Amino acid sequence: MLAGKRILLIIGGGIAAYKALDLIRRIKERGAAVTPVLTRAGTEFVTPLSVAALAGAKVHTDLFDLTDEASMGHIALSRVADLIVVAPATADLMAKMAQGRADDLASTLLLATDTRVLIAPAMNVRMWTHPATLRNLATLTGDGVLTIGPNEGDMACGEFGPGRMAEPPEIIAAIEAALADGPLRGKHVLVTSGPTQEPIDPVRYIANRSSGAQGTAIAQALAALGARVTFITGPASVPPPDGVTVVPVQTAQEMLAAVTAALPADAAIFAAAVADWRVQNASDHKIKKTAANAPPVLRFAENPDILATVAKGTPRPRLVVGFAAETDDVIAQATQKRARKGCDWIVANDVRPETGIMGGTDNAVTLITESGTESWPRMGKDAVARKLAARIAGALT
Ligand code: CTP
Repeated sequence: MLAGKRILLIIGGGIAAYKALDLIRRIKERGAAVTPVLTRAGTEFVTPLSVAALAGAKVHTDLFDLTDEASMGHIALSRVADLIVVAPATADLMAKMAQGRADDLASTLLLATDTRVLIAPAMNVRMWTHPATLRNLATLTGDGVLTIGPNEGDMACGEFGPGRMAEPPEIIAAIEAALADGPLRGKHVLVTSGPTQEPIDPVRYIANRSSGAQGTAIAQALAALGARVTFITGPASVPPPDGVTVVPVQTAQEMLAAVTAALPADAAIFAAAVADWRVQNASDHKIKKTAANAPPVLRFAENPDILATVAKGTPRPRLVVGFAAETDDVIAQATQKRARKGCDWIVANDVRPETGIMGGTDNAVTLITESGTESWPRMGKDAVARKLAARIAGALT
């Protein structure tokens, strides 16, 4: 899948830089060419010689290398690739990217490029969870930068938590997904997924049993057909797919804001189990159980209907697909829902507990379109996703 592709690999200055050597080897094994760029800090962790030897190519290290400028300027260098991969992407590199700074070769290339960028963040857990890094991440995903990882685990600094760079095979999978050729190449598809959490107070919330498995599988299947996927997900129990832009949200209102910010899109698939209600009188402080206090009374306010807002708004994606999770009169309810919400297709499923569908690995769906209903046999959620993605590709091309 990577044969003949050109990857510009920017290696940042972190202990995970050693894994970039293995990554280069794996990219080369798959028949792709690697143009390596080492940041100044990167040279403290791996030597230009080992990078050049593995890549079989010159290593670019400094913005003001006049020999380089004579053979290939930094603008040209930023354009020669099919994909730019930043691994490890340090907190500093992410901050520079988010701010649009261009004070060394790596940041200049990232600002000058018109090529897609995939970052594999790697840093100390506190740095990863710092609000500044989270802000930068949100800016970068909003700019369409793809991310892979970080993973959770023991870190070189002795701490435990998220911040470890994704393993080279995971990065390869993300590169393959980002470069996938297919009928959806050049199309932007938005997918919502997972549950939403509606706070009661800083420690309690209302949620639902959605695992995010079906939405994740759909995003993966669409990416495999070459789509650029923006994946807007509530706190799901399955990890997000590789090679898509992940926008994590918590509440329905945040999900609507993220969806609106991600438009325009060629298609939008609403697989999220959005809470219909939020707690209007949510407390900023933990609600205490004191002898004098009666049990609290929660007042609810209706959440925006994200699907209906997009289906009836502008810019409207060409294809808007909703889901209908029902326990009674599945087809009739879902058919009404399609009309009420103004979407093109509804994927209806029966979520009575005895079906084991909500939170399970299988799904049995009925696709409801303008031309009628079509019941698909019970199959794995991955298989449903692939079948649906193929139908979406058929509708968009
Ligand atoms: N949906 C949405 N925003 C909401 C509620 C639902 O985008 N606030 C989307 C879901 O992602 C799904 C579709 O609408 O694609 C239907 O969701 P469902 O929960 O089945 O429908 P409801 O709107 O909750 O309708 P009802 O309460 O009548 O079942």
